[in-house]
Amino acid sequence: MVVRELTGGIYFGKPRGFDQDENGDEIGFNTEVYAGYEIDRIAHVAFETARKRRGKLCSVDKANVLEASMLWRKRVTKIASDYPDVELSHMYVDNAAMQLIRDPKQFDTIVTNNIFGDILSDEASMITGSIGMLPSASLGELGPGLFEPIHGSAPDIAGQDKANPLATVLSAAMLLRYGLGEEDAAKMIENAVLETLNKGFRTGDIFSSGKLVGCEEMGEQVLRSIDSQKPAAVGR
Ligand SMILES: NC(=O)c1ccc[n+]([C@@H]2O[C@H](COP(=O)([O-])OP(=O)(O)OC[C@H]3O[C@@H](n4cnc5c(N)ncnc54)[C@H](O)[C@@H]3O)[C@@H](O)[C@H]2O)c1
Repeated sequence: MVVRELTGGIYFGKPRGFDQDENGDEIGFNTEVYAGYEIDRIAHVAFETARKRRGKLCSVDKANVLEASMLWRKRVTKIASDYPDVELSHMYVDNAAMQLIRDPKQFDTIVTNNIFGDILSDEASMITGSIGMLPSASLGELGPGLFEPIHGSAPDIAGQDKANPLATVLSAAMLLRYGLGEEDAAKMIENAVLETLNKGFRTGDIFSSGKLVGCEEMGEQVLRSIDSQKPAAVGR
C-alpha cells in the first residue's frame, strides 16, 4: 500500500514559473515545500493504514539532501510515538525505487510525498503485472473519498475490449473498506478477483499463459466468482 500525500509538495509549491538566470539563459523552477501539519496529516493516515495491515510502515524521503524531506522525517518520527504497535522505518527514495523491484515483500505500507508517491506507485503497479491491476483511494480528512484505478483512460486501447477492469473493480473494494467500513463486502470482491486470476483468466496486459479474455469477459468472471461466494456469506 502506497500512501501518497496528494495536495502539497512540488506540484503545488510556490514560487514556481519561468525566468532567466544571470547569464540570460531561460530557467524553469518549482518549489518542494511542506508545512508540518501537512506531513502530520498524511502520517496519521499512513500509521492508521499500516495498523489495519501488517503493522509495518516505511517512510520514503530524500532527507540526505532536501530540507523538506528532513522536516518530513522529523515529523513522521515524532508521530510514531502515538503508534507503538506500528514498526516505522525510513528509506531514501532512490533506494526505495531499487528495493521495490529487488524485494517488494519487505514492504507493507509506504508513506511518501506527492512526487515520490506519484512515481513509486506506478513502479509498484508493475510488480502486480500491470497498472490495470492497482486501485487507489484519495482520502480527505472528512470524506468523501475518491476511489479509482491508478491508470488513466487508456486512449490507445479505447473501444477494443482490451482494458483490464480489475483495478477498477478493486477500487470498489477500497471504497467499501476505507469509505464505508464494509470489510466483509470488500473481502468478497477481492476474493472474487483472486479466484478469477487463479482460474487463469487474463486480459492482454497481464497475459503470458492461461485464458486470454477481453474486458467484458473478465468482468463476467469476477461477477461469477462473487455469485459463488454468496451462499457462504448469507449463511453466516
Ligand atoms: N488517475 C488519473 O486520473 C489518471 C492517471 C493517469 C492518466 N490520466 C489521464 O488519462 C489519459 C491517458 O493518459 P496516459 O495514456 O498517460 O496513461 P494511461 O494510464 O491511460 O495509459 C498508459 C498505458 O497503460 C495502458 N493501460 C492503462 N490502463 C489500462 C488497463 N486498465 N488495462 C490495460 N492497459 C492499460 C494504456 O493502454 C497505455 O498504454 C490522460 O488524459 C491522463 O491525464 C489520469
